[in-house]
Amino acid sequence: MSRVVVCGSLNMDVVVQSARRPAAGETLLGAEVTFLPGGKGLNQVIAAARVGAAAAMIGAVGDGPFGKTLRTFLADNDVDTSGLHVVPGQATGLALIQVAQGDNAITVASGANSRFSTAMVRTAPRRDEVWVAQFETPVEATRAIMRKARRAGARTVLNMAPFQPHPADLLKSVDVVVLNEIELAQATGVRLRAASSERRIVEACQKLRAKGPRAVVATLGPRGAMVVTAEQSILIPGFAAKVVDTTGAGDCFVGAFAARLAQGATPVEAARYGNAAAACSVGRLGAAPSMPTAKEVAARLASA
Ligand code: ATP
Ligand code: RIB
Repeated sequence: MSRVVVCGSLNMDVVVQSARRPAAGETLLGAEVTFLPGGKGLNQVIAAARVGAAAAMIGAVGDGPFGKTLRTFLADNDVDTSGLHVVPGQATGLALIQVAQGDNAITVASGANSRFSTAMVRTAPRRDEVWVAQFETPVEATRAIMRKARRAGARTVLNMAPFQPHPADLLKSVDVVVLNEIELAQATGVRLRAASSERRIVEACQKLRAKGPRAVVATLGPRGAMVVTAEQSILIPGFAAKVVDTTGAGDCFVGAFAARLAQGATPVEAARYGNAAAACSVGRLGAAPSMPTAKEVAARLASA
């Protein structure tokens, strides 16, 4: 069976829920705190595993208790953790996430994620695999991983989040780029807003596609996702959802999308599946714990 291999970040998310976010210099009482597994890499591999893909995580954690908690969480979700490295003397990545009124603000202390390197990747990519990376670990390592995976005949998915400056040739090793509107604007210099027209979004995606990837998928929040390939540009509408916390919605989309690609779906089919999965995830608190099962996604697809 084809599998999804995710190279990237793992964080402990410290989620603070309050009625509103404090202004600069203000102290706000009455918040609730929860410690939840997160990090874009971890979230994406959990999303892929929960919808039924064989999945493996390659990344770095510190030698304290958070690293152990994240490893256990991955193993409990049937993710292969043999590619997880412990960096002595380093803290595990930590994200401070302030959730208020259905929106969030995130500050990341990268810790061991910043020490991730290609030397930690001891698994050789295979033709039948989908390799996934993001920009929360060093860009040079991501570039080398995407190139090696492409050369081995694996399919490659790059989530350009959070946006980072990168070498121009990186995108030539990528099959599918997935990014949100803000990252699309940063990657192309095209000015975009939440309400930008489909035509403008397509123009930006085409500009990015010209740099090398075979497909560009722009996630557009509740609007869904724009898929731009050589053959077509198509908006795949989002699914209705009651929003509790959107943290990790983009990661859910990427993981579910990669899982479908691994099963032989086209980018357009995989994006519809990603939309359905992400609509499930926004209804629950947290990133990784909010990832839906295949059964939940099937129900959401059937409801449309
Ligand atoms: P985040 O940073 O919050 O993880 P993102 O900004 O990377 O998310 P978005 O484009 O906001 O990514 O959302 C990713 C996907 O999640 C969308 O393409 C859509 O399928 C789904 N989604 C997000 N918000 C909603 C919503 N309010 N209702 C339904 N689906 C949503
Ligand atoms: O995309 C959501 C993730 O971003 C959170 O889980 C947090 O860890 C940050 O990396």
